[in-house]
Amino acid sequence: MRLGILGSGLMGAKLGTIFARAGHEVVFSYARSEDKLKRLARKAGGKARAGTPREAAQDADAVLLAVHWLRFDDVLERAGDLSGKVVITCSLPMNEGDTELVVARTSSGAEELARRIPRARVVAAFGTVPSEVLFGVYERRRRAGRPSLVCCGDDRKSKNVVVKLIRDVGFDPIDIGPLRMARYTEPFTMLIARLAYEVKGGPALAYRFERL
Ligand SMILES: NC(=O)c1ccc[n+]([C@@H]2O[C@H](COP(=O)([O-])OP(=O)(O)OC[C@H]3O[C@@H](n4cnc5c(N)ncnc54)[C@H](OP(=O)(O)O)[C@@H]3O)[C@@H](O)[C@H]2O)c1
Repeated sequence: MRLGILGSGLMGAKLGTIFARAGHEVVFSYARSEDKLKRLARKAGGKARAGTPREAAQDADAVLLAVHWLRFDDVLERAGDLSGKVVITCSLPMNEGDTELVVARTSSGAEELARRIPRARVVAAFGTVPSEVLFGVYERRRRAGRPSLVCCGDDRKSKNVVVKLIRDVGFDPIDIGPLRMARYTEPFTMLIARLAYEVKGGPALAYRFERL
């Protein structure tokens, strides 16, 4: 697949690298330094390259939006027309200090994003785990007992694309239904962040649902 990364920080850099190693054609974009994007592309190997947000989005089958909530307007403007594209968001609607969700309960960051780009097909995925766990999950992908990863969105075909990417990273995908379910996954991520960063054991934390 051709994948555009909009935001090459903790999440975008790691997911983009894993996507490239899994054989996808990746364009890293939207960092404050072009050198960083080039370095990332070199390190990721495969068919990865650096580009502008517009180049990342242009021919992409899917784009990953991995920026702070306060940077949405800027990155979307730079990416240009996303009509018809699968837009995967791992972003949370956090305040400037990253202490609170600024959208919750009656809406979600993912739904607000979908309202801003109504012709795109928004799927929320990857945002429920800390970036620190991603490489570990990829390395363990051939072992039994993969960790779960929830995703939600209103378009079935787009979710199928995302489910495949979730598998490529090494998770067991769980489609939890329409995009409005992000109203529950986003606060759930606050719980995961608490466990990852504030409770003993370290941030390389994933979750796994089991039916008994
Ligand atoms: N980190 C996590 O573990 C985690 C987990 C779940 C969800 N999330 C969500 O995922 C999203 C991305 O998080 P992150 O931790 O990956 O953020 P991050 O590390 O801060 O990355 C954001 C990216 O945006 C770029 N950027 C920021 N300001 C810019 C500007 N003025 N011009 C151009 N580029 C700019 C950064 O550039 P530089 O590379 O130059 O810094 C970076 O590449 C957030 O919405 C967050 O809530 C994060």
